[in-house]
Amino acid sequence: MLEQLKDLHTQALEELNGIKNPRELELWRIRHMGKRSILTKALRSLAALPLEERREKGAQANEIKTALESSLEEKRKLLEEPLLTSPTDARRLDYTLPGRPIPIGRLHPTTQILNEICDIFKNMGFQVIEGPDVEWDYYNFEALNIPQDHPARDMFATMWIDADMGGEARLLRTHTSPMQIRLMEKERPPIRTIVPGRIYRYEATDATHESIFYQVEGLAVDKGITLGDLKGTLLDFCHCLFGEERKIRFRCDYFPFVEPGVEVAIECVTCQGAGCRLCSHSGWLEILGAGMVHPDVLARVNIDPEIYSGFAFGLGVERIAMLRYGIDHIRLFYSNDLRFLKQF
Ligand code: FA5
Repeated sequence: MLEQLKDLHTQALEELNGIKNPRELELWRIRHMGKRSILTKALRSLAALPLEERREKGAQANEIKTALESSLEEKRKLLEEPLLTSPTDARRLDYTLPGRPIPIGRLHPTTQILNEICDIFKNMGFQVIEGPDVEWDYYNFEALNIPQDHPARDMFATMWIDADMGGEARLLRTHTSPMQIRLMEKERPPIRTIVPGRIYRYEATDATHESIFYQVEGLAVDKGITLGDLKGTLLDFCHCLFGEERKIRFRCDYFPFVEPGVEVAIECVTCQGAGCRLCSHSGWLEILGAGMVHPDVLARVNIDPEIYSGFAFGLGVERIAMLRYGIDHIRLFYSNDLRFLKQF
């Protein structure tokens, strides 16, 4: 038995010399020192020998085992350390080599323009808050002067979560205006707040219409606020984003929760007002709806319309990004095409 173990030892050491990586080393350990190895079996068989013979052979077999264990440990160290320490090993790490470039992500153009819009209004003294995407019928419609069966509900093609439950029904908000009510329920004037957020409409898409897009709601309520304040605020905002030269158009519009209501459009950047696909050949692109907060809306949240007045606006973020960056189709924002996204 001892002769066999000595041969085995020599053979194992020879094999160990040729081992080049930790995986091969582990296989070597299992082969020569594992549960089913000749060495382990030989050690187990010692139990059947008479005492004297067992002592002598056992001591020698254990010597071989200990020698193999320390060879194994040495080899393990050798395999793990040279990458960092050995000055001669060809696989040594060269810390002076330039690093491999890691591709760096960037903010989505919608996020970039959203941040810019928020910064402009923050500089004017507006605070920024957010609201829920899933909204009650009450906040999205009823509290905004759009009761059940009001024709203005058609303006907001709605994605319902549970329809036919009156003011108790839930929906995906069709605009950010419900936050006007939530805000005025909690806060007393003076109020100067903007609310960026995603909104949802069940409608056909084209170059300027998406079914999920972003709006920024604005609300200012205080004593003596006039339509002039609304116009001044929005003109300043447009000049900050598009420069003093870009033409801006104010026109009357209708929203049940404001009186009077206005719509703001910017001269189309693609055709400079001459008419193109982007602006439906009108030369203008509508970016927001706005107006003076309706007295009934103020009264509903217990703000006295005889004392206070306010203005509100809701602007389309992707439309503004299109004008700002000269993008001629809204679909590009959410098609996740890296060739498009990498340009921003
Ligand atoms: C509203 O959503 C009103 N809540 C705005 C408002 C707020 C009026 C406060 C008065 C007071 P409107 O549906 O027009 O209005 O949408 C506002 C802006 O969102 C539009 O001017 C446009 O820029 C953008 N928008 C509207 N529909 C889409 C669409 N399908 N895809 C992309 N942008 C859109």
